[in-house]
Amino acid sequence: MQKGHDPLSSLLITNARLVNEGQVRDVDVLVEGARIARIGSGVTAPEGVDVIDAAGKYLMPGMIDDQVHFREPGMTHKGDLATESAAAAAGGITSFMDMPNVSPQTTTRQALADKYGIAEGRCTANYGFYFGATNGNIEEVKALQVGEACGIKAFMGASTGDMLVDDPDVLEKLFEHARVMVVTHCEHSPTIWENEAKARAEFGEDVPFAEHPNIRSAAACIASSKLAVDLATRHDALLHILHLTTAIEMDLFSRAHRSEKRITAEVCVHHLWFDESRYEELGSRIKCNPAIKSARDRLALLAALNDGRIDVIATDHAPHTAEEKSASYFKAPAGLPLVQHALLTLFDLVADGQISVELLVDRACHAPADLFGVGQRGYVREGWFADLVLVDPGTPHAVSRSNLLSKCQWSPFEGHEFSATIDTTIINGEVVYRNGRLLGNTAGRRLEFSRAR
Ligand code: DOR
Repeated sequence: MQKGHDPLSSLLITNARLVNEGQVRDVDVLVEGARIARIGSGVTAPEGVDVIDAAGKYLMPGMIDDQVHFREPGMTHKGDLATESAAAAAGGITSFMDMPNVSPQTTTRQALADKYGIAEGRCTANYGFYFGATNGNIEEVKALQVGEACGIKAFMGASTGDMLVDDPDVLEKLFEHARVMVVTHCEHSPTIWENEAKARAEFGEDVPFAEHPNIRSAAACIASSKLAVDLATRHDALLHILHLTTAIEMDLFSRAHRSEKRITAEVCVHHLWFDESRYEELGSRIKCNPAIKSARDRLALLAALNDGRIDVIATDHAPHTAEEKSASYFKAPAGLPLVQHALLTLFDLVADGQISVELLVDRACHAPADLFGVGQRGYVREGWFADLVLVDPGTPHAVSRSNLLSKCQWSPFEGHEFSATIDTTIINGEVVYRNGRLLGNTAGRRLEFSRAR
């Protein structure tokens, strides 16, 4: 039994508007222990069972965030597995997959095992970890077994953490030998370095942040994404390209259902939300890699999300301290804290008619479960784990410093009022967040991954 969990506890959720598997319907849901026992109407429960009346609220599977940087081990002044998984749970994210650019980097199977050890008993949400590819660890890649990691991360463009994989022979071998999905950060670094040199010549050290999408350009993105697609196609590997940002890259992806694809695509909430018109106001707060680009690019991402070329919505939650972010262009690190507000941004897009609530649940909950073979999560089904979120679409949530939960204590959304509120988050049957309060339980368990090439 996991710490803090009472196997006999039950919970009845009544009158919920369930969003699941492409449908919206009114149901009651009975949770027993860690699992969903019944879904139906008029579900009754034994006396004394806790009841949550969910009238007027959406019930959905918790979001499975397939890309976060929770900074542990080694960078815990920015965030750690405990603080960031709690912030995630408050945002309706019930499972997360963490990236390997920590210290030490997760680039050996031993470092991966150590990281799982560090996480045990400390996470509010369920966790899985990526293995990191480098130019020098192909033997470790070959030894990596299905289930050990959610996937193999390859920084095919340099970003935070000095993990660039750019040796052509290594890339060939990586796509040839990976037993699990390869997930990539695609930006062509030599193009970026050239653009950086030009910007330095023009502006000196004080490059305006609005130059970021010109430096981390669309040309850099498409060159690298094309290479990844070519490698995966030739080796018949599983490839998931992370945080896509440009209209031009959308032509690389098929509209087929994810069950028929070996090459899939992810978009992150900040790229669906912000565009380059916001650099003047927000500066380094929205500096991230790949860069937030034009309004036209943002609309193209939304179109691709709606027509199936983009399969998954994630966050790329990447906290840095306010002090680190206050530096000038070249020194300010890239990345934004996002997990607490990701679902709320998506519900604003729903309220604005840009995506449907069924599509939201498909891309943020069902799709990551399917693509990574996450065991018995990501859907609301009898017998599956009770990872559930209640969202109140009628109560606004204003973001202010006083209600931020990430360790870095700032947010690009400060001052914004979202149209919806995360009402309740349930993980493995335990209520971990309710009415604006974290309840302090570390209900998260290690995720199981079964997808193999
Ligand atoms: O903006 C980013 N921040 N992009 C990345 O690829 C890495 C991340 C980080 O770890 O800070």
